[in-house]
Amino acid sequence: MTDENLHVLLRARPSPEVTASLFEPVAAPIPAVADGQFLVRVVWLSLDPAMRGWIAEAANYSTPVPLGAPMTGFTVGEVVESRHTGFPVGTIVQGRQGWRRYAVSDGSDIDRVVDPGLAPISTALSVLGLNGATAYVGLVEICDPKPGETVLVSTAAGAVGSMVGQIAKALGCRSVGITGGPDKVLACLDEFGFDAAIDYKATPDLGQALDAACPDGIDCFFDNVGAEQFDRALERINVGARIAICGTIGMPSFPLPVGPRPNRQLLIKRARMQGFLILDHYDRYAAIIARLTELYRAGHFRWREDVTDGLENAPAALVRLLAGHNSGKALVRVGADP
Ligand SMILES: NC(=O)c1ccc[n+]([C@@H]2O[C@H](COP(=O)([O-])OP(=O)(O)OC[C@H]3O[C@@H](n4cnc5c(N)ncnc54)[C@H](OP(=O)(O)O)[C@@H]3O)[C@@H](O)[C@H]2O)c1
Repeated sequence: MTDENLHVLLRARPSPEVTASLFEPVAAPIPAVADGQFLVRVVWLSLDPAMRGWIAEAANYSTPVPLGAPMTGFTVGEVVESRHTGFPVGTIVQGRQGWRRYAVSDGSDIDRVVDPGLAPISTALSVLGLNGATAYVGLVEICDPKPGETVLVSTAAGAVGSMVGQIAKALGCRSVGITGGPDKVLACLDEFGFDAAIDYKATPDLGQALDAACPDGIDCFFDNVGAEQFDRALERINVGARIAICGTIGMPSFPLPVGPRPNRQLLIKRARMQGFLILDHYDRYAAIIARLTELYRAGHFRWREDVTDGLENAPAALVRLLAGHNSGKALVRVGADP
């Protein structure tokens, strides 16, 4: 770790693959702090599958990261210099400082102040952060599961998926996960308390595996993948099922693949399917994190971190995440934990 500033700039757009060569690490001066501002030393950087969309030219829910600008990203950092009364030196903040070692802020790009006494501060990017909040909104508010119902989630060993499974258990549901690889299946069963977990890479017939894992059908489906996993799950939903579309990491964004049309199954099963973005729920972020904190304090959550050291290695770590090779929340350790 070094005290010099570093920015990782976006230099080119994916065509269509995301490669490390799209990014360039460059040295930068540590910015001066004006009145009403403070300097954040970034400690943790979150890597997210959504970054594929953030850097693409194609229309998305956000404006593409401009070429030549530091890559956008959620961070946890320490205030190391301050001329802002609300953020004294030593405050730990979760914000959007991006792929930078040091960044000046006026508070507008800070999401919340983090209590380092509650949990390791990296959890402000996972269990007690955006991933936990995403799982909470999609499962509790969109799927609205009842005790005893079966909740199925894809990318079950991942940052969002593992939280969906654990919140489902806390609500008294049967939780079933789909994930890729024997280690991830073990993590689902032994660490995250799933009642059943399916290794879709090793299963010759995903439909049969779902029948065995969900003998009473599927009441709630939290989908992070799309493609075949979505198709096979949709065939097995119960009357009145609720489906939250959270991500499509298993599908190309362009050209869109053609698959079974869901209309008929949704009609027959009187089911509801809804896409959502956690960014639309930011006005309630504090309340959602407070609810997750209660569940955390009650001992409901375990988590895994997939840590890459050094901001200069963030591009390769993002490529690894997008290939599905992470095991747990993908994080970059940008600086030493205070
Ligand atoms: N709607 C929202 O607001 C929102 C917010 C945050 C995240 N998300 C979505 O939630 C999903 C999970 O995100 P996360 O941050 O928790 O990541 P993650 O699950 O920790 O990591 C991504 C995982 O995706 C899985 N995957 C499935 N098919 C894949 C494929 N074809 N190529 C590469 N990976 C594949 C891999 O797990 P397996 O080996 O188990 O397949 C991989 O480990 C993503 O779709 C993301 O876009 C949505």
